[in-house]
Amino acid sequence: MSIQYKFPEGFWWGSATSATQMEGAANEEGKGKNIWDHWYEIEPNRFFEGVGPESTSDFYYRYKEDIQLMKKIGHNTFRLSISWSRLIPGGRGEVNQEAVKFYNNVIDELLANGIEPFVNLYHFDMPFELQEEGGWESRSVVDAYAAYAKEAFHLFGDRVSKWFTFNEPIVPVEGGYLYDFHYPNVVDGRRAVQVAYNTMIAHAKAVEVFRTFAIKDGKVGIILNLTPSYPRSQNPADLKASQIADLFFNRSFLDPAVLGEYPEELIEILREHGQLPITENGDRELIKANTTDILGVNYYQPRRVKAKEHLPNPHGPFMPDWFFDNYDMPGRKMNPYRGWEIYEKGIYDIMINLKENYGNIESFISENGMGVQDEERFLEEGEIQDDYRIDFIREHLKWLHKAIQEGCNAKGYHLWTFMDNWSWMNAYKNRYGFFSVDVKTKERTPKKSAYWIKEVSEQNGF
Ligand code: NOJ
Repeated sequence: MSIQYKFPEGFWWGSATSATQMEGAANEEGKGKNIWDHWYEIEPNRFFEGVGPESTSDFYYRYKEDIQLMKKIGHNTFRLSISWSRLIPGGRGEVNQEAVKFYNNVIDELLANGIEPFVNLYHFDMPFELQEEGGWESRSVVDAYAAYAKEAFHLFGDRVSKWFTFNEPIVPVEGGYLYDFHYPNVVDGRRAVQVAYNTMIAHAKAVEVFRTFAIKDGKVGIILNLTPSYPRSQNPADLKASQIADLFFNRSFLDPAVLGEYPEELIEILREHGQLPITENGDRELIKANTTDILGVNYYQPRRVKAKEHLPNPHGPFMPDWFFDNYDMPGRKMNPYRGWEIYEKGIYDIMINLKENYGNIESFISENGMGVQDEERFLEEGEIQDDYRIDFIREHLKWLHKAIQEGCNAKGYHLWTFMDNWSWMNAYKNRYGFFSVDVKTKERTPKKSAYWIKEVSEQNGF
């Protein structure tokens, strides 16, 4: 088969996952409680089919077998996250030696199998005790995070060179403080702004700490879910609405992380509405001095935006929704039950934007994927025939390839995710993996896409 789309040498092929979503052993081996364990305890019915974070794919006990599967399908890189409450139960203080052993084993096993570990420090999983202290609203929690980051660099930095401070930091802001899909289920734009700001400070502090370590080939970055905003029309009201959505949901982290400063337009909007966060002396310099080396881009879907049709309630809490409306673009969706639009060109638009406006920072697709409900519909001869996922990945890769041809600095592609896993409130509703997981027996079975990606990774193209 001749290769039409060849990727640059050393391209990173792999997948991504997170501690809470795949480790299991949620109440075992010395792990402390995080906000997911707590939320499930108090409101189990908020979770799809009542399934909670202790019922994941059990990587904690099966990592060896899983790493063999990764190797089999051609992975040369893999992203995991460290669970803060596993490493440091309660969030500060004593390190849990069982956790050190576990992460050491995973890292060593990956390396022994030719798979480079990419390690992320925070994937939505605040230790519960620190949430009680105010979570990201509190500066003492920011300091606890910087201490945790230091500990992790110290423990694992001799073997891990690619580090990420946060995965999708805007999501806990949206989920926890605006739209009620993460604990602590607050709906308050003012508090959301403070949480976003403090998260950024935590990121910058971790980068600052990272720079004090001499990690071989060490790179530190952040992983952002970028959702390109497309206005409904070119009329000024739609354009403005789309720019504001971009400011709130992309540039609020992208600009400070990569350029070292917040967009003036965002500051203006917040100032005009009396919503600027509480800051401390030295914050601006901290952010400016600690821009990232590398950017992970999670891309699933674009944002379709139109001007507001109805005026917001002036007595309600400050919300980004005061400034724009989203709308649903008719067309291809990830599955009939879920409205995530499939728009492959978004990946190219993101990359071109990074090239033109963000110094062509070194980047990679750190997540892209297709969540499909009731995937057993496609079971034939003992295997999920996920041709739709193969098409999905292939079409995104074509656009990524084009961006690279045009000079974008993209170094790899990770699918979300390696194997079906527990996805927050949705639990096991949407399946994303190269491997299916039987929720009861935990048995892993390759989907057709696993064989396809093996070939693509081994040939470095298709
Ligand atoms: C992105 C998040 O990083 C991950 O935790 C989540 O499961 C996937 N999106 C799918 O929704």
